[in-house]
Amino acid sequence: MDNRRPLIAGNWKMFKTCSEAVETAKHLVKLVSTSVDVDVMIAPPFTALAQVSDVVKGTCISLGAQNLYWEAEGAYTGEISPSMLVSAGCRYVIIGHSERRQYFGETDESVNKKVKSSINNSLIPVMCVGESEKERELNETFSVLDKQVKNGLEGFSHDDLKTLVIAYEPVWAIGTGKTATTDQAQEVHKFLRTTLEINFGNMLAKSIRILYGGSVKPNNIVELMSMSDVDGALVGGASLDPETFSKIVQFQNRT
Ligand code: 13P
Repeated sequence: MDNRRPLIAGNWKMFKTCSEAVETAKHLVKLVSTSVDVDVMIAPPFTALAQVSDVVKGTCISLGAQNLYWEAEGAYTGEISPSMLVSAGCRYVIIGHSERRQYFGETDESVNKKVKSSINNSLIPVMCVGESEKERELNETFSVLDKQVKNGLEGFSHDDLKTLVIAYEPVWAIGTGKTATTDQAQEVHKFLRTTLEINFGNMLAKSIRILYGGSVKPNNIVELMSMSDVDGALVGGASLDPETFSKIVQFQNRT
C-alpha cells in the first residue's frame, strides 16, 4: 500500500438529531483508542457538527461534513460555505456523493467547484465517484469513472491535490448489502490510480488515498483492506452504531 495511511470514514447521511449524534460520538470516542494506526473521520449532519466537534476535539477522530457550497458567503438560502464548516470544526468534506448526484442534481462541474473551494479553505476533499448497476452491466464502468475523475479534477495542478481523497462507491453496492468483491474493488482502485498517474504524475497517484464505499461491514473490511490499492473505507449504515464502526476502525487488530 506504499506509505498511504488508512482512512476509515463514517458518513452518517441524514441520520441522528443533535443529542443522538453527541451520544454516538461520545460512545465512539470511548471505543476507539488513540493508538489506532489509521485516520478516522465521522461526518454527521450539518446541524450536529459543532456539538460533535466538541466531543471529538483532542481525540484521534476528525470531523467531516457531507457537502458544501463553493461560494464564500452570500444570498444562497440553505447552503453552507467552506469557512462555516471550518469554523464548526471540520477537517474533511465529502463531495459528489452518488446520493447528491442522483437526488440533488450534482454534476461533475459542481463537484469540480466544490473540490476547488474545499482546497482553498484547507478542507480535505473526499471526492466520490462510482458507476450505476446499469453502467456496470453495459461495461461502462471505466469510462464513467474516467470521466468523473477527469472532469471533477479539471484545472488542478499536482500541488493542489496533495490532500485529496477519492472514494470509489459503486452505486449498486450502497445500502444494498451487495459489496463489490475484493477483486472488483482492487481492479477499479488500480484503474483510478492509473488515471491519476496519467493526469497528475506518479508521485501524486501513489500518495492519494482511495477509499472503498458500499456495504462495508466488520466482516468484509479486513479482506478489502488487504488489497494493495484500497486505502480505507467510506462507511454508511455501519458507521451509525459505534460498536460496529469501531470494529471497522480497528480492523488491524484482526489481521
Ligand atoms: P452503506 O455503507 O450504507 O452501503 O453506504 C455507503 C455510503 O454511501 C457511504 O458514503
